[in-house]
Amino acid sequence: MSSLPSQLGARVRAAAGVDPELRAATRPEFGHFQSNVALRLAKTEGKPPRQVAAEVLERLEVDDLCEPVEIAGPGFLNFRLRSEVLAAYVGDQLADPRLGVEQTAQPQRVVIDYPSPNVAKQMHVGHLRTSIIGDCFNRVLTAVGHEVLPQNHLGDWGTQFGQLVEQILVERVDASTLTLDEVEALYKRAASHFKADPDFADRSRLRVVALQSGDEETLRIWRELVDVSLAGHNVMYARLGLRIDDSHLAGESIYNAELASVAAELKASGVAIMDQGALCVFVPGFNAPMIIRKRDGGFGYDATDLAALRHRVRDLHADRLVYVVDVRQGDHFAQVFAVSRMAGWLPDGVEAQHVGYGMVLGSDGKPYKTRDGKAMHLSTLLDMAEEIAAPPIALAAIKYADLSNGLNKDYVFDVDRMVQTTGNTGPYLQYAHARMSQVLARAAAEGVLPAQAEVSVLDAPEEQALALALSGYGEVVADVAATLQPHRLCTYLYDLAGTLSVFYERCPVLRSEGAVRDSRLTLCRAAKSVLAAGLDLLGIEALDRM
Ligand code: ARG
Repeated sequence: MSSLPSQLGARVRAAAGVDPELRAATRPEFGHFQSNVALRLAKTEGKPPRQVAAEVLERLEVDDLCEPVEIAGPGFLNFRLRSEVLAAYVGDQLADPRLGVEQTAQPQRVVIDYPSPNVAKQMHVGHLRTSIIGDCFNRVLTAVGHEVLPQNHLGDWGTQFGQLVEQILVERVDASTLTLDEVEALYKRAASHFKADPDFADRSRLRVVALQSGDEETLRIWRELVDVSLAGHNVMYARLGLRIDDSHLAGESIYNAELASVAAELKASGVAIMDQGALCVFVPGFNAPMIIRKRDGGFGYDATDLAALRHRVRDLHADRLVYVVDVRQGDHFAQVFAVSRMAGWLPDGVEAQHVGYGMVLGSDGKPYKTRDGKAMHLSTLLDMAEEIAAPPIALAAIKYADLSNGLNKDYVFDVDRMVQTTGNTGPYLQYAHARMSQVLARAAAEGVLPAQAEVSVLDAPEEQALALALSGYGEVVADVAATLQPHRLCTYLYDLAGTLSVFYERCPVLRSEGAVRDSRLTLCRAAKSVLAAGLDLLGIEALDRM
């Protein structure tokens, strides 16, 4: 089903010949939507705007959708949807399992790179945002009909494993019996050992070579470290309710066998050149080159990301790539994309996008750290919120606070504010949903829940405002799918909850009768469904009681 603004927009476009750019009216007396199309046309046509507006109106056929259209001020067009139209829309919306969210005409296969934590380390505050944002993109893009393929680019490869494996051999521990916390502690001991003991450092370097060339014992210990880490990360994915599983694992190690061919291809095409013993690509506009192969012959993060990108397009047939990674890696991804275009691995038709996110700050406005200056573990953040609220509410609080902030902005992790059930918070939206559940449960208990979900009466302005707000749901989901800006969905849901609460205060539901009560109960059902669906897209659980 096509949304009311898009139906109306199409009619106005037909009459005006250009996009009417319908906007929500800024004041109730201006109706529901406004367009400045006549003012824009007047400029190009050299006529008075009000005259152009009158001409557009003559060609415009919207009587079945709107009250008579008004020309306002210098030539704005004001549209007010007929209340029968709004009422019918809400009934149709409720009958539609997608609640008015349209399926895209061009379904794509979208690879989303998230949450991509590192082996031998707990997920930390830096992985909070990639988890929440990546999962929201996953849900929203799926909801509009794209095929989403998460790729968890686990940091499971690199020089740190030389130290780790050596340390395990020195301490004679069985890595498979360790917990992730113990592995993390071991990693710290390995790093200091590496700094303090040149002999250990040498052995660690050789150990990296052994790992990369497939030495059996080294690989076995490495595998144990990976498994312990995965088990620890999986606990966090489950706790966060992420829509990813082991089938989405695509750690850096899987590209090991591809790295030589990445280097060879770039060298043969002249994209990469030798510089001081290293194979590099100098991308115009960047200070530092991409290092494809280091002087010692090793490969690193840059080469691995190039191999991963090539694989995602060539083998996974992605039409679009989205990387949900810390904004500070912006230069890295800009270069990865530029080099991939030069190499022909990223054809014009495939869009690659780094969605960078800002930092999570402590109350002092500085990056959130533990007392001893380490990055805060994600589990600690969740524990802090769960000290104040039940787990689904704590999680809602954290996710909503994260998503309602602009993605590339930093924000302060203010747990006391986040868990409030008033104000622009996740729990407030859960509360609005729970309130509707309660009303509907009471209606069911009293035997007054209408069998037919229909809105036949929509006279009160508060009822009309609620119906209008509900009818905007499909539009906002399409918008978030296109722009990848979840805060717009947050704002929509927050406004909807506000409109709902005004409706609920001023329009008695269970204390009214007949068709009015039926219609209001249907509005409550639609509001509950839209809130639940919208929250689900944010990864937040809708609760029936709080
Ligand atoms: N493992 C990295 C980190 O924790 C993030 C990896 C992001 N994804 C990528 N394809 N480089 O910072």
